[in-house]
Amino acid sequence: MFIVIDGPDGSGKTTLAKSLTQRLCQKGFQALYTSEPTYDSEAGKAARQILRSGEVTDIYAFADLFVADRKEHLANLIKPSLLAGRWVVCDRYKYSALAYQQLQGVNPQYLIRKNQECLVPDFAFILVPQNTNILMGRIAQRGERTELFEKKEHLAATIPYYRSLKEYFPKENIWYLNADDSTEDNLGQVLGVVGVG
Ligand code: TYD
Repeated sequence: MFIVIDGPDGSGKTTLAKSLTQRLCQKGFQALYTSEPTYDSEAGKAARQILRSGEVTDIYAFADLFVADRKEHLANLIKPSLLAGRWVVCDRYKYSALAYQQLQGVNPQYLIRKNQECLVPDFAFILVPQNTNILMGRIAQRGERTELFEKKEHLAATIPYYRSLKEYFPKENIWYLNADDSTEDNLGQVLGVVGVG
């Protein structure tokens, strides 16, 4: 089973994805947590470097880096794990591209087409916040340097794109979660939807 958890920075997706992986393991499933952009591929490293520097010279080339990283991630880790009978919980996937790269001005049809070959998850859970101040508070608490997209206006601006995902991918199994709810509440919902609650 291939499950994606996505949402804006600070929405709690990493905590939820890690808790889900842990709970699945406790229930006796073989589950692994992974995330994008990866730290493994050259494209993933290049994307992270640009995120840190905050300087994007070509938004289409930047979008292509995430797709190249995703394809390597699928080939090297996600697909082999699924074939071995494991559950894969992926923190961010192509849905981040529709939110962040579209925000930068990339045409959504370009993003959809470029990501067409990428495996469709069995379930995608999107954390959407009602209150962006909560997001900024979470990011500030981390005490890390603020990256390219981690400014409040960016965070709020990605939300409408996340809300439109069902229009971009009408055939996919996309579920929305309220990012203001607790991780435990959202975990309960996810387990219920995937049928292991
Ligand atoms: P993030 O989840 O913040 O990674 P970490 O917690 O390890 O810093 O992801 C890094 C950034 O990557 C995030 O701001 C969104 C961006 N991103 C894109 O712009 N496009 C994509 O396709 C993906 C997967 C991520």
